[in-house]
Amino acid sequence: MEIVIIDEPEDVGPLGADAIAQHVVANPEAVLGLATGSSPLRVYQELGARVARGELSLSRCQAFLLDEYVGLPAGHPEAYRTVIDREFCDLVDLDPANVHGLDGTAEDLLGECTRYESAIAAAGGIDVQLLGIGRDGHIAFNEPGSSLGSRTRVKTLTTQTRLDNARFFGDDFHAVPLHCLTQGIGTISSARHLVLIALGEPKAEAVHQLVEGPISALWPATALQLHPHVTVLLDPAAASRLQ
Ligand code: F6R
Repeated sequence: MEIVIIDEPEDVGPLGADAIAQHVVANPEAVLGLATGSSPLRVYQELGARVARGELSLSRCQAFLLDEYVGLPAGHPEAYRTVIDREFCDLVDLDPANVHGLDGTAEDLLGECTRYESAIAAAGGIDVQLLGIGRDGHIAFNEPGSSLGSRTRVKTLTTQTRLDNARFFGDDFHAVPLHCLTQGIGTISSARHLVLIALGEPKAEAVHQLVEGPISALWPATALQLHPHVTVLLDPAAASRLQ
C-alpha cells in the first residue's frame, strides 16, 4: 500500500489525476471506476482541465460507477448517475454510452446486480478504481459487517451514513434512501489499481484502521491491505492518527 500525505487538500487533484492518466496513457481504452461523494471532486476537476487543454482524452475509455441509491428516479439530482454526469462526465470527453451505472429503480434488483457484474467482466475488469472512505470505514456502500468477498448486491445504509449524506438532501435525513446497490468488496478488490482519497479529521480513525488495523469486516476498507496495488492519498488531518 502506497501512502501519500499531501500538504494541502487541493494537491489531491493533480496527484489523483496523474494516477488515472497513467492508465489512460498506457491504454486509451482503460476502464475507470468512479466514486461519488466529495473526496474525488478535485480529481474530476483536474481531469476536466486536462481534457479541456487537450492534454488527455477519455473518449475511448469506459467507466463504471461504484454504487447507486435504490428508488431515486433517473435524473434525480442526488441519484449517483446524475451526480457523476454533473461532476465528471460533463467535464470530460467520455462517451455517455460508455458510462455504466446501476439502475436503482430496476424491478429485479438482484438481477440488476448480476447484470452489472457481467458488464464489468465483459469490459475486461476495472483498471483503476477511485475510492472515498466513510468515517465508519465503508468503501462504496459496504458498511461495517459486509463480507470481505462480497460482490455487487443490495445493502441497507446505516443510520450514520444516512446522517452523513443528509447534507445532499437538504439536511433531511428521511429523504436519504434506506437501500442502495453497491459493488461488493470482492468486486472492488478485483480492480487492478485502487486509488483511495481521504480528506479531513473525521476520516482519521477510518484511515488508521485501513492502514494499520487488523483486517476485519468491522472496518470494511481494511480488506484493501490484501490488494497488491493501492494508492492512498491523504491530507495531514486524515493522516493524523497514523502511528
Ligand atoms: C461514493 C461512495 C462512498 C463515499 C464515502 C465518502 O460512491 O461509495 O463510499 O466514497 O461515503 O464520501 P465523501 O467523499 O463524500 O466523504
